[in-house]
Amino acid sequence: MEDLLMYNFNIKSSIHNYEVQFTNDFSICLREEIKKDDFLIIDNNILKLYENALKPILIDNKYIGINAIEEQKSYQGLIPIIKNLIENGFRKNNRLIAIGGGITQDVTAFMASILYRGVNWCFFPTTLLSQGDSCIGSKTSINFDNLKNQLGGFYPPNKIFIDLGFLNTLEHKHILSGLGEMCHYFIVAGESDFINFKKDFNMALKDKNILSAIIAKSLEIKKSYIEIDEFDQKERQVFNYGHSFGHAIESLTNYRVPHGIAVSYGMDMANFISVKLGYITNELRMEIRELLVQVWKDFPIHDISVEKFKIALSKDKKNVGAELRLILNRGYGKIFKDALKMDDTFTKWIEEYFNNEL
Ligand SMILES: NC(=O)c1ccc[n+]([C@@H]2O[C@H](COP(=O)([O-])OP(=O)(O)OC[C@H]3O[C@@H](n4cnc5c(N)ncnc54)[C@H](O)[C@@H]3O)[C@@H](O)[C@H]2O)c1
Ligand SMILES: [Zn+2]
Repeated sequence: MEDLLMYNFNIKSSIHNYEVQFTNDFSICLREEIKKDDFLIIDNNILKLYENALKPILIDNKYIGINAIEEQKSYQGLIPIIKNLIENGFRKNNRLIAIGGGITQDVTAFMASILYRGVNWCFFPTTLLSQGDSCIGSKTSINFDNLKNQLGGFYPPNKIFIDLGFLNTLEHKHILSGLGEMCHYFIVAGESDFINFKKDFNMALKDKNILSAIIAKSLEIKKSYIEIDEFDQKERQVFNYGHSFGHAIESLTNYRVPHGIAVSYGMDMANFISVKLGYITNELRMEIRELLVQVWKDFPIHDISVEKFKIALSKDKKNVGAELRLILNRGYGKIFKDALKMDDTFTKWIEEYFNNEL
């Protein structure tokens, strides 16, 4: 692969600044970074798939394997891990090192933020979604009572190491999910960024040089927002584009549709509503949809009941009272937050979308 050094960068955070380093060989970075008494939290699938690379390193350090399932991201799921850490002498000056995707990240980040009022942690993201999006931005969330991401805060890692080699073993649907998720950054960024992303999309599936450039660009766009609005109070909220609809799709399909694929549908729905409100032309919507279809085409959602969809949408945690807070589109680079009532007109548009657009 090309020289990856040019992609390395730092992020300013009011909690602590942190660093993102790209690498061709995570095991070299891990070996250099790890200190005695650091404790590793590793996705069990990664433990199995990368056993040869990890085994020699794990001889000298304690580690816990976790299952990357949503149930793990809960108080109940955290209890045995915290017990294990405390019983094995983990101290405030020791660090957690997470190796896995977004679930492993959320579990580790949440624990790191509460354990002894905060311990340092490092992250080796292993999915495209975590490499191109979630690894930066400080968010930590766990689920509560089967409801997603209800509890959490902001607590970034101290250092992130991105090795695209991990993606060789990742299921194709998670690659598509990562590309779908990254797509919203490019639409928020502006027309030329989106058009370049659309042009590179197919090659990115085969060529790691193109994919690493996309990941680096996606993180660069996200960095420019999180550095001015780390706590998601204002500017950063545009990144909820596609997410209110997307979360409803994820939960109504019992997570059969991965996050970034659900968000791709969500962006098209947001664009559909934006056309109805006269914010964008249908032509612009179709230009974006051409790409989004490639992300979702093997994940139909005809089985979702429109009634249940409307209820799920009305429960979105970003709503204010009975009013929806949706992120809509006035054109590339002009994504914005809008307040809408879930009235008859809106309901008809949703029905029309499900009846005619899927
Ligand atoms: N904190 C944040 O900012 C943030 C942002 C977006 C999403 N998330 C959370 O991230 C989670 C989704 O994360 P995700 O999509 O990164 O994946 P994941 O952690 O859910 O993992 C998906 C699957 O891929 C497997 N896997 C991971 N890496 C692999 C690899 N290299 N090779 C083979 N298999 C591998 C896992 O074992 C799992 O089966 C959700 O819970 C979501 O809420 C958090
Ligand atoms: Zn997302």
